[in-house]
Amino acid sequence: MRVLSGIQPSGKLHIGNFFGAMKQHLELQNEDEALYFIANYHAMTSLHDKERLARNTHDVALDYLALGLDPKKAIFYRQSDVPEVCELTWILSTITPMGLLQRCVSYKDKIERGLSADHGLFAYPVLMAADILIYKSDIVPVGKDQKQHIEVAQDIAQKFNNIYGEILVIPQPRILESTAIVPGLDGQKMSKSYGNTIEIFANEKTIKQKVMSIVTDSTPLEEPKDPAACKILALLRLVATSEEIAEWEDRYRKGGVGYGHTKKRLVELLTEYFRPYREKRKELAQNLDYVEQVLQDGAARARILARKTLDEVREAVGLKYDPSKFGTEV
Ligand code: ADP
Ligand code: TRP
Repeated sequence: MRVLSGIQPSGKLHIGNFFGAMKQHLELQNEDEALYFIANYHAMTSLHDKERLARNTHDVALDYLALGLDPKKAIFYRQSDVPEVCELTWILSTITPMGLLQRCVSYKDKIERGLSADHGLFAYPVLMAADILIYKSDIVPVGKDQKQHIEVAQDIAQKFNNIYGEILVIPQPRILESTAIVPGLDGQKMSKSYGNTIEIFANEKTIKQKVMSIVTDSTPLEEPKDPAACKILALLRLVATSEEIAEWEDRYRKGGVGYGHTKKRLVELLTEYFRPYREKRKELAQNLDYVEQVLQDGAARARILARKTLDEVREAVGLKYDPSKFGTEV
């Protein structure tokens, strides 16, 4: 089985990215053939600042490696180091129905939030399909918000195969229901673009500030509270043992516990959880040649696979042909 996933370097990575997607990526690198990449072409749909794009790309590389991505196990690369994916995007675009892209909720959401309705933003799922299909990926581990994009990739692959023959592999999403949508400080989905995140590599002081700002209702301390409705508990579930969670739930139902108590515990556990990774990241930041080498080696390995599929595709669609077949008559 070949596993593939990508993360956009559109801002600092947060615990929603980690628990929703990256944690699965890291687990799967031990079981399957894995490719993970930094989706910097995709980030250009929301970021038009060369310094920030470069800085974020660098940061995501350090983050992933610090969190345990092992370049001996997984192929790790920058999307833009395999430009073949852009050619496949064009070829796939020529068979992608407009309606398929018009139905994508992520595009509509982004426009509503003020991003400009550029062609790149609209065609984003076709580039994502090319990312997946060029490596003949079987499994794509992501958070729930990306499910529709993988369905688009499935539809495009199916249509391509119907027209040109069985070349592309139909990918399957892999979504962990328990962490499919990690809530942010405001209770909405945590997202880089909503300003409601807790960053993975934030220091203790920032974690504290952020957790304390989580929006809660005004139920008084002594009154019972609904554990299922509490966003602090939802975050605590990511880092506490099930025994501890059961205790908190019990205390919520009985009353006498305030949101301040769970917030305090959340700060402690989050700080502890990510402490070793913060140390590792500091070490990597002293060794940037190594990080760059990892990315370049990853791209070289990825490119061999990408080139192979692209050659098959070029042949299948009629971009590569043998002129001698056409004879000499005019
Ligand atoms: P963001 O919304 O912060 O820009 P991305 O779109 O770059 O995040 O997502 C990178 C990966 O992290 C994707 O697989 C996405 O599904 C996952 N992800 C992002 N936010 C969350 C969240 N709040 N809960 C669960 N998974 C998430
Ligand atoms: N669109 C994904 C996101 O925002 C990132 C991404 C780009 C991706 N290409 C991909 C994810 C291919 C999985 C597979 O999170």
